[in-house]
Amino acid sequence: MAPSLCFRTFILQFMLLVFSILNTSLHASEPPLTLEYYASACPNLFEIVKKEMECAVLSDPRNAALIVRLHFHDCFVQGCDGSVLLDDTITLTGEKKASPNIHSLKGFRIIDRIKNNLESECPGIVSCADILTIAARDAVILVGGPYWDVPLGRKDSITASPELAEANLPTANEGLATIISKFLYQGLSVTDMVALSGAHTIGMARCENVRARIYGGDFEATSGSNPLSQSYLSSLKSTCPPVRGVGDNNITAMDYVTPDLFDNSFYHLLLKGEGLLSSDQEMYSSLLGIQTKQLVKQYAADPVAFFQQFSDSMVKLGNITNQDSFATGEVRKSCRFVNT
Ligand code: HEM
Ligand SMILES: *[C@@H]1O[C@H](CO)[C@@H](O)[C@H](O)[C@H]1NC(C)=O
Ligand SMILES: *[C@@H]1O[C@H](CO)[C@@H](O)[C@H](O)[C@H]1NC(C)=O
Repeated sequence: MAPSLCFRTFILQFMLLVFSILNTSLHASEPPLTLEYYASACPNLFEIVKKEMECAVLSDPRNAALIVRLHFHDCFVQGCDGSVLLDDTITLTGEKKASPNIHSLKGFRIIDRIKNNLESECPGIVSCADILTIAARDAVILVGGPYWDVPLGRKDSITASPELAEANLPTANEGLATIISKFLYQGLSVTDMVALSGAHTIGMARCENVRARIYGGDFEATSGSNPLSQSYLSSLKSTCPPVRGVGDNNITAMDYVTPDLFDNSFYHLLLKGEGLLSSDQEMYSSLLGIQTKQLVKQYAADPVAFFQQFSDSMVKLGNITNQDSFATGEVRKSCRFVNT
């Protein structure tokens, strides 16, 4: 145990170093985002996004989770540039079929509806990347989470990258060190990682992503060492049968206590060892997670601190941009296709 722990710690330190060097070049000299970006060209922007999000979340609170996750999966791939929204065409392969996204990302029609409304109100003005960023903020508010101001002025990409979607997005069976390194690579800290994971206080996971956590062994859990309580396990087993490919898309809430409420209940579950995703439980239970464990305890004890950090970290997430999207980017007419 001891040598492998040391080795993993060494690898982590090394990755921290490499990524902190990479980061400086990833975020160089971009035009800054501003709060007033559309103030004169589309004064009703915020009202229009809010109205559509209200309808969506009222009809199904899960829609809030879908939009928040869409924004996250957009920003971790080429920066927040609407690349995740692009459909496959003859000339472009989008990100929707990449393994972290397929059968899993949803909510695209909500973004289409907002975009349609905005094209009637102020055609060609508001980027899909900005729409998604505002919609994610509104989604959080509508299920009880904090408000924050959203800096704007992103451009939509004319490319997508299924390869970067595979490489950059964290998955439920990855270890803590790998996930931390993926956040550092984006210029986000361990604190951002723990706070942003608090988004799992809403929304659902599919059986495919939790089978290893439920049954371990044959399904190769990375953290079979964090067993779930018997009562929680038996309820999960009734939703997710122990057979690969059977009921893969059956879903279960990540926060079974208050699944539709944006609160800090997610962290309380981690304290009890009942994080649904193995990757989430690792933040509290991993031997490597001294700092993450401390943060989990803090956010469980102090919901205001969680809301404050979550807001700040969402702004940082939304700030991930790349040179390309400003140089070659556009404001798409349809979020699903680049302009012709
Ligand atoms: C820290 C690493 C993360 C990992 C490993 C991870 C992994 C996952 C997985 C496996 C699911 C279930 C997907 C499915 O089964 O279809 C999920 C759902 C979700 N994730 Fe994450 N996630 C992470 C971070 C984040 C962040 C930073 C956010 C947003 C700020 C986020 C927001 C969500 C939301 C809202 C859902 C529920 C979506 C729904 O109801 O369909 N996640 N995540
Ligand atoms: C995000 O970007 C805006 C403008 O580009 C900047 O003013 C703000 O300080 C950044 N916020 C964070 C948390 O990085
Ligand atoms: C999916 O879940 C439902 C309800 O939780 C359950 O009745 C059904 O049997 C599950 N599907 C499979 C294939 O087990």
